[in-house]
Amino acid sequence: MNDNSSESRKPTDLAAIRQSIRDHSLWPEDGCVTRLLRNLELTGGARHRAVAVAKGLVEGARARRDERPFLDAFLQEFGLSNQEGIALMCIAEALLRIPDDETADRLIAEQLAGADWSAHAGKSESLFVNASTWGLMLTGGILDLDPSIKSDAAGWLRTLTRKAGEPVVRLAVRRAMRIIGGEFVVGRTIEEALGRSGAEKTLALCSFDMLGEGARTQHHAERYLASYEHAIDAIGRAAKGRAPHEASSISIKLSALESRYTLMQRDRVLGRLLPRVRMLAERAAAAGIQLTIDAEEADRLDLSLDVIEALSRDTATRSWPGLGLALQAYGKRALDVIDWVGAVARTTGRRLAVRLVKGAYWDSEIKRAQERGLDGYPVHTRKVTTDVSYLACAGRLFGHLDVIYPQFATHNAHTIAAILELAPAGALYEFQRLHGMGGLLYAEAIRQITDFPPVRTYAPVGEHKDLLAYLVRRLLENGANTSFVNRFMDDKVPVEEIVRDPVSELERLQAAQNPLLPNPIALYPDRRNSPGIDLGNPA
Ligand code: FAD
Ligand code: 2OP
Repeated sequence: MNDNSSESRKPTDLAAIRQSIRDHSLWPEDGCVTRLLRNLELTGGARHRAVAVAKGLVEGARARRDERPFLDAFLQEFGLSNQEGIALMCIAEALLRIPDDETADRLIAEQLAGADWSAHAGKSESLFVNASTWGLMLTGGILDLDPSIKSDAAGWLRTLTRKAGEPVVRLAVRRAMRIIGGEFVVGRTIEEALGRSGAEKTLALCSFDMLGEGARTQHHAERYLASYEHAIDAIGRAAKGRAPHEASSISIKLSALESRYTLMQRDRVLGRLLPRVRMLAERAAAAGIQLTIDAEEADRLDLSLDVIEALSRDTATRSWPGLGLALQAYGKRALDVIDWVGAVARTTGRRLAVRLVKGAYWDSEIKRAQERGLDGYPVHTRKVTTDVSYLACAGRLFGHLDVIYPQFATHNAHTIAAILELAPAGALYEFQRLHGMGGLLYAEAIRQITDFPPVRTYAPVGEHKDLLAYLVRRLLENGANTSFVNRFMDDKVPVEEIVRDPVSELERLQAAQNPLLPNPIALYPDRRNSPGIDLGNPA
């Protein structure tokens, strides 16, 4: 296939661009990398400046480590690179779903048994992290699982609580998980969240996310729909007539609104989901706020574009500049999708907002492609490729400023600095961060950089029971040692290493594809994997 496809087709030929999106779905990575580097609009000088600015941001943030939130420190100590961190992730992932006490106790026992909690005691500068470590040592002691815990300092605590018994341990661990989860949520109800938004400066501009996704039944979908409707009305009232890009907004997930949200159910989805989303879009337009459709799994992309095109063609909302979508730079189709959004906006005569993210489902995309025995992966296999893709996509978005409002969602200092270099003078755009993450970095950016663009906070709202999937993505993201957030406050990692220019790194690579991730079909050294079908691609 011709990698020049985007350059040769007509810029408003929607069908041709959709075909190109489908063709690039599992594209070989060397073709992707060549195309990304060719489309990159960051000059040598700009690359140099981006590294220098990013370095200043990281150094500034490190100098203010006292202001760092508890969770940052916690996840740096308990990341995915040690057994204790993995045990915590497993507990967080499973505990809240276990209905009976006996199984919950067995899960806690199994996960806490093999870990060496005492190795973490006193290691972090954060008082709370140390408190958590003591808590876990304590728990290990109660269950009498880990004879290796011999810390005298903790001995009295263990003796004290051994008397308390397993129900107390279960409660304590559940409570610890709630505290971790609570760091990511701004309120249990939209009213509570709006109250905080009105009172806290860093939450003044939010995109509220009513927690809930992957509806299992129509009953679930209807519950999530009602919560979106209620939230839109409340956010609209609080907006008090400000322009959509200056007011708080809502983010929604299509998987929350339809229990059969897969391409195989396309007709059903368009018949049942589309009217629901259209109603929400019309409600957001009437309230005068933005509504962004979050990006989810890669095999839902094609179907989500059908929904977005149908919404864009809705004449009732044409003059509303608030319809938006999230776009994942780790996806091999990202550049084509931007062209498509530009073409939809021009064809339908409306402005659209695009939130550029790197993508939160990387691990599951890789695993699912392997499980299905696909010909390739829908996502890049090296982090540096995703970083460069993000910058190529950013340049492309700035090329559509007449019809697109770009929103850059990242917690990476280099990415922020490179976007500042790519932005044309006077461009209207914003940055975005997740609640509980990136606070210190953006505070530093606003402090150091004159006229820094507005920063919107993605703000989850809801009850703990709906948090699980979101929480696991955040724990994976914060815990991975390739993540910027996992390393940027770690003094053992030199600043130069954290803010390295991804472009030169990518140019230096011998092979585009990560050698640790052979194509799914070639996964096994001794036999061919059973080939499967990509059920997310209509072709
Ligand atoms: P970095 O540390 O620079 O990048 C981490 C990212 O690199 C990973 O998340 C992954 O995407 C990528 N990566 C890691 N390892 C590899 C590898 N081996 N190969 C290729 N790529 C790799 N995500 C969604 O999917 N949908 C959304 O709708 C969405 N909305 C968001 C809204 C906001 C406001 C924010 C801030 C984030 C949102 N996210 C969403 C999550 C987002 O995808 C992650 O927060 C983001 O990827 C982290 O990127 P970074 O630049 O902050 O960090
Ligand atoms: C997620 O739910 C933030 O949309 C992103 O992980």
